[in-house]
Amino acid sequence: MPENRQIHLDNRPAGEAQASNFVLVTAQTPALQDGEVLVRHHFLSLDPYMRGRMNDAKSYAQPQALGQTMGGGTVGEVVESRNPRYPVGTKVVGMGGWQEYSVVNADVPGALRAVDTRHVPLSAYLGAVGMPGVTAYYGLVHIIAPKAGDTVVVSAATGAVGSAFAALSKARGCHTVGIAGGAEKCKYAVDELGFDACIDYKEYSDAASLSAAIAAACPNGIDGYFENVGGMVLNAVLPRMNAFGRIAVCGMIAGYNGAPLPLTQPALILMQRLKIEGFIVSEHMEVWPAALAELGALVADGKLRARESIAQSLENAPEAFLGLLKGKNFGKQLVKLV
Ligand SMILES: NC(=O)c1ccc[n+]([C@@H]2O[C@H](COP(=O)([O-])OP(=O)(O)OC[C@H]3O[C@@H](n4cnc5c(N)ncnc54)[C@H](OP(=O)(O)O)[C@@H]3O)[C@@H](O)[C@H]2O)c1
Repeated sequence: MPENRQIHLDNRPAGEAQASNFVLVTAQTPALQDGEVLVRHHFLSLDPYMRGRMNDAKSYAQPQALGQTMGGGTVGEVVESRNPRYPVGTKVVGMGGWQEYSVVNADVPGALRAVDTRHVPLSAYLGAVGMPGVTAYYGLVHIIAPKAGDTVVVSAATGAVGSAFAALSKARGCHTVGIAGGAEKCKYAVDELGFDACIDYKEYSDAASLSAAIAAACPNGIDGYFENVGGMVLNAVLPRMNAFGRIAVCGMIAGYNGAPLPLTQPALILMQRLKIEGFIVSEHMEVWPAALAELGALVADGKLRARESIAQSLENAPEAFLGLLKGKNFGKQLVKLV
């Protein structure tokens, strides 16, 4: 069995996460038991939620254990098998973690899923046709529930979730506006992702001026907002919400390092009779089949061309992860392991 390089959580961050929170170790791979397969990971997914799991704090998920391989989504190929349903060569998506190989009991429900790479590239199963894509789908379809002609807005617009949101909302005939960091990201959002407009929040020093720019891009107000960021961006969007608007609270990345995110005008929730709903995509497994079918078709048809930021080799995962938390990624952040 091969040697397996892994990245463990060595110690917990105080404030901003650091490279020194992680340690690279080499482990032996155990021999396979009946039902198990050895998966060689081709790509590791880096996701903002991993920052929350580095804390030992109450949350919807258990904290990442110290001295253990960091958890995370992976796609790869079965290279040894003692499970007839997953022969050698099967391409699979799973939760292999920050390591080069994983041994998986493929009979455990949900542990592995075989994927078809004929029309959709393997890496897309970690992004547009994976957890981030389904996240966009759930918040848009089940919380915002737009009608054709509605105006919908998403923050972190060019990221893994935001880019899928654009394709799904355009398919439903919405006026779709993004908020992203930097002119290059905003140009890409309009030229490549299909946004009708994109606002560079870094051009604005306060919520009032950002809010004025949002108003100009949303002349009919906002019917649905998909929140990925929090803080100034949320304070700028809230005054632009239409009566009976819906806000899907997906993420608050501006606060993941512990910064407070004060809400300056909560009375608007009452005045505009808003519905605000937080959600965790893994708690809505019932929507995954329909979501993955639609997202897979959008990718196969070239209507969702999500960009990827690809770091090379496992030892560069911590740096790429810290960059993701600062917006250095441009599209879905992956680590290529093969
Ligand atoms: N609820 C769920 O089940 C669920 C599932 C998946 C993801 N999420 C959440 O969805 C959000 C997007 O995830 P993703 O995987 O698609 O990540 P992503 O958008 O690919 O990458 C994160 C982006 O967040 C933006 N960002 C980082 N720090 C920021 C700050 N201080 N202020 C404003 N923007 C900041 C950056 O974009 P800019 O350069 O444009 O600022 C960065 O590129 C995250 O909040 C994540 O936690 C939630």
